Amino acid sequence: MASQNVRIIMNGVTGRMGYRQHLLRSILSIRDEGGVELPDGGRLQVEPVLVGRSADKLAELADRHGIAEWTVDVDEALADQSAPIYFDALVTSERKKSLLKAITAGKAIYTEKPIAQTVGEGVEIARAADAAGVLNGVVHDKLYLPGLLKLRRLVDAGYFGRILSVRGEFGYWVFEGDLIAAQRPSWNYRAEDGGGMVLDMYCHWNYVLENILGRVRSVTTRAVTHIPQRWDEKGEPYEATADDAAYGIFELEGGIIAQINSSWAVRVHRDELVEFQVDGTDGSAVAGLFGCKVQSRVQTPKPVWNPDLPTDEVFRDQWADVPDNEEFANGFRAQWEEFLLDWHAGRPHRHDLWSGVRGLQLVDAALESSQAGRTVDVAAIA
Ligand SMILES: NC(=O)c1ccc[n+]([C@@H]2O[C@H](COP(=O)([O-])OP(=O)(O)OC[C@H]3O[C@@H](n4cnc5c(N)ncnc54)[C@H](O)[C@@H]3O)[C@@H](O)[C@H]2O)c1
Repeated sequence: MASQNVRIIMNGVTGRMGYRQHLLRSILSIRDEGGVELPDGGRLQVEPVLVGRSADKLAELADRHGIAEWTVDVDEALADQSAPIYFDALVTSERKKSLLKAITAGKAIYTEKPIAQTVGEGVEIARAADAAGVLNGVVHDKLYLPGLLKLRRLVDAGYFGRILSVRGEFGYWVFEGDLIAAQRPSWNYRAEDGGGMVLDMYCHWNYVLENILGRVRSVTTRAVTHIPQRWDEKGEPYEATADDAAYGIFELEGGIIAQINSSWAVRVHRDELVEFQVDGTDGSAVAGLFGCKVQSRVQTPKPVWNPDLPTDEVFRDQWADVPDNEEFANGFRAQWEEFLLDWHAGRPHRHDLWSGVRGLQLVDAALESSQAGRTVDVAAIA
């Protein structure tokens, strides 16, 4: 039973995702519990090395959380042979440069999605990692959420019979920033800074669909900018050049039709901020971030269409909850633990850079579909 420490270079920890999900809820939470448990009962303890542009912010963060090391010099951090893992949660537009540097330095790579801004860039990064022989992984957090884990359980159990279709609804109102401050960073709404709904969310939809239901074969999408002007963090107005909503139809292997609406200009009338309804011949399910409800074939009521009478059925009450039956950790932390165990065992991580490339392929195909007004095939690249 041997225990070990691993130093992890963490870039972008002053950002929303880097700080809250990756530093606080994953790495510090693992550290404070004494590390990840190894198969032989030993522990793999984590030691973050913070990297960023602002010395003040990093010093304050390090002080607040008892972190020994930070630097504003990423090259210095990468040159340190005693830190074998590089993590990246920078704005998307900075990703390619920093990942390539870290790969050249021989680090194992773990990165936020999207891995780059185009398929070409993604392929370059994935090939570089393969050539260097470095372990690599991309954040696929949605797969580790309780609701989607339960959905996966249903698929594995053969609950649905033949799966016919998927209806996904994602989104909420992101404030414009004039009346009320926006709850997301302004770069998300500027195409030139790596923003856009398709680039942001289709990477997620690709791995959710391919890991739970089947690979995407073709896509038809209409991406739009509903809100053309927004106000930034300083209260200055700016032109929103990126798409803030995308209405997509995806044809999956096996003939499953998935339709997903993604919007930052929609008000929520749902139980959760994202929900997927899956309909099959033997039963249906509605999965959110946390919950998952089912209605089987034999429990399916027989609604009769009659516009002359008000509805007297409460349709939502006709579904049953899928029980937890296990404890679910924070999704980001759960994937971090898996990545760290893969690193320790010297084996590949199942959600690698090529999965990130496939996400970008779907992004490119969807944007082409939106521009050309037609269905676009998604070629098998990896
Ligand atoms: N997995 C998810 O569910 C999820 C959710 C939101 C965002 N993301 C992804 O995480 C990444 C960060 O998003 P966020 O919402 O945390 O953004 P953010 O704006 O809050 O943070 C961005 C970070 O990048 C740094 N940065 C900005 N410009 C830089 C530059 N020119 N050079 C070096 N560093 C720079 C900032 O200092 C900050 O640390 C994005 O790629 C985004 O797509 C993932």
